Amino acid sequence: MIKSQTIINAAKSGLMVVLAVIMPMTAGASGEDVPLDKAPINLNNHESLQRGARLFVNYCLNCHSANYMRYNRLADIGLTDEQIKSNLLFASEKVGDTMKVSMPKLDAKQWFGVVPPDLSVEARARTADWLYTYLRGFYRDDSRPTGWNNVAFPNVGMPHILWDLQGQQVLKAEEHVDAHGVKAEVHKLVLDQPGSMSPAEYDVAIADLVNYMVYMAEPAQIKRQQLGLFVLLFLGLLFVVSYYLKKEFWKDVH
Ligand code: HEC
Repeated sequence: MIKSQTIINAAKSGLMVVLAVIMPMTAGASGEDVPLDKAPINLNNHESLQRGARLFVNYCLNCHSANYMRYNRLADIGLTDEQIKSNLLFASEKVGDTMKVSMPKLDAKQWFGVVPPDLSVEARARTADWLYTYLRGFYRDDSRPTGWNNVAFPNVGMPHILWDLQGQQVLKAEEHVDAHGVKAEVHKLVLDQPGSMSPAEYDVAIADLVNYMVYMAEPAQIKRQQLGLFVLLFLGLLFVVSYYLKKEFWKDVH
């Protein structure tokens, strides 16, 4: 009895040590504990995926690559080779190429201090909600070398490259008094200078972009969902057929 108690205690303290090691790691991985906004993802919306692909190719591939993504895979989301060629490719690229970065790695390191990571599977690494919050969470911060900071990724090395669309946000501190009279400072993003899009339009554009990045992180998922639907329909049909067959077989027995 005593023995088993000591074993349990030892196991408990062992677990605490493991947790103590893991906890700061998970906290660090997500940056700060910011509340994430829900990304309205819909992989069946081909138009949204196509708009997202265009934004991604035009704005992100200047610095990031997507080495696991081939352009002609975009046929999955309803684009023809011809459309891919005329809308998304530079003259030197072929539809079978992967999405390469335009900027040499060495320059990137010099300009930003870090090499912008490959974004092929970023949506799986960070989640859609994080991306949606991050890409809408840039604000002016003159203490940063790029002039920008981010609520989801404090002191990020990436400048706000969509600022012409969104405009400029600033982070305003407000005093918040809760029901118990406890004062706390909360920070809120406020649009300081409007961009070419309204805030609602910008949210839709980012939803498209994140939608595309979720698709890109696992292009097979669209096919898989279609196949799943087909299998369910087939099983449904099989059920009806077998039901009537069973009725036919047993009608003389009852
Ligand atoms: C001017 C170059 C540049 C462009 C253009 C750019 N980025 Fe970045 N991005 C960076 C750099 C540099 C980092 C690394 C930041 C760091 O680690 O501090 C980064 C980091 C990121 C991260 C975080 C990666 C991680 O998990 O650590 C995401 C997500 C991201 N970029 C998405 C995008 C998207 C989407 C676009 C297109 C809309 C884009 N970026 C365009 C330079 C760029």
